[in-house]
Parts: sequence; C-alpha cells; structure tokens
Amino acid sequence: MIMRAPVRIKTPRLVLRAWVQEDVPLLREALHASADELGKWTPWVLPDPANPNALDERIAGFRAKFDTGEMFGYGVFDNADRLVGGAGLFARIGPDALEIGYWTHSAAAGRGYATEVARALNAAAFEECGVARVEIHCEPGNVASAAIPRRLGFRLRETIQAEARIAGNPPVELLIFEMIEAEYRQLKSLEASA
Ligand SMILES: CC(C)(COP(=O)(O)OP(=O)(O)OC[C@H]1O[C@@H](n2cnc3c(N)ncnc32)[C@H](O)[C@@H]1OP(=O)(O)O)[C@@H](O)C(=O)NCCC(=O)NCCS
Repeated sequence: MIMRAPVRIKTPRLVLRAWVQEDVPLLREALHASADELGKWTPWVLPDPANPNALDERIAGFRAKFDTGEMFGYGVFDNADRLVGGAGLFARIGPDALEIGYWTHSAAAGRGYATEVARALNAAAFEECGVARVEIHCEPGNVASAAIPRRLGFRLRETIQAEARIAGNPPVELLIFEMIEAEYRQLKSLEASA
C-alpha cells in the first residue's frame, strides 16, 4: 500500500507545505543565503551550480515522490509566509518506518524552528502515516542537529559508518536516533499529564 502524508502541517509558529513549483525562487534564495551552514552538513541540499534548472527539477521530483510515497518534502513557512527552512519524511529506512530530515534558513536559526518541525513530522509519521518507527540521522559533530532528537525524546540506537552521500567522499560517522511507536505513545501521555 502506498504511504500517504498530509500536504499541509500546522505547528504553533509554522506551516509545513508540500513544495510547489512556485517555491523555486524562494528556495533558491534560502539555499544561497544558508550555503555556509548547509555546505558543512548537508551539501547535497545545495543546487548543482552547473545546472540552472536543478531546483525546478528537484521540486518536480519532490512532487512525484510525494505521490508515490517515497518521500514527503515540505517547505517551512513562518506566520509572515517567509520560507524559513525545509524538511522531509523519507521512506528509505525499511518498511513501516520514516526518517526525518530538516534544515533551517541561516537567518532563522536558533529559534527552535527545526525542533518544532521535527516534532510535527514525528507526530505526522506516527499519527497519519501510521509507521511503527521513526529515525533521525546526523553526524556527531553536528551538535545543533543532534540536540533535536535528544530534545524530542529519541533514543540513540547506534553509531554507524555510512557511505558519504556524495560519491567519492570518505565514509562518515552517523548517529542513528530512533523512536518506536510505544515510546511515542508513552511520551505523548506523559506530556498530556504534565
Ligand atoms: C541543525 C539545524 C537544522 C538547526 O536548526 P534550528 O532551527 O536553528 O534548530 P533549533 O532552533 O530548533 O535548535 C537550535 C538551538 O536553538 C535553541 N532555541 C532557540 N529558541 C528556541 C525555542 N523557542 N524552542 C526551542 N529551542 C530554541 C535551541 O535550544 C537550540 O540550542 P542548542 O543548540 O544550544 O541546543 C540548522 O543549523 C541547519 O539547517 N544546519 C544545516 C543543515 C543540517 O545540519 N541539517 C540536519 C542534518 S542531520
């Protein structure tokens, strides 16, 4: 069965919307303005400078994959409709499971946005996509990112040596944070009774 996810997710301060072609100029500006930070940790998010259509093609791909259930990619907008980041749920870690990814526009960093986004995507994964397990992967040196799954109650399952996402680069260490459905339900009931 094809997995489905909501096309729009509202959080206390933000809206996550499935990317549309009209977002390309905003995305281009955000990636350009955040290139130093993104280049350090998620260089594959930056467009290939040799391909002027790279972002149009990416968003077309995101839309197609949203429909096939391969991944659910979202632009993240604040309450003034400014693009403050991007995020996604990726169906690439086995059955009944989704991996959360996120980045924040450098101008909007340090306000808890990525935490708010990851919290909302985690809830959507369990409540709406119906998965049994969610993971967040990040490099140990990416302290701001690793703080996010910890803050949300994920468990560090293991540290692995993974192939670099960019061919030819050396393998990287990756922290694999995990939450299973029983843990999610328990955290939710603890939060509700707090
Ligand atoms: C990692 C990254 C996504 C963090 O984005 P962010 O929106 O700045 O993250 P947050 O604001 O949620 O958390 C970062 C800090 O802001 C703090 N913060 C500020 N206001 C906050 C609020 N209202 N609520 C929660 N946290 C808040 C957090 O406590 C946290 O501080 P800490 O680093 O001392 O723990 C961002 O730096 C980025 O895009 N990096 C490059 C891409 C990347 O690494 N992506 C992840 C790949 S694994």
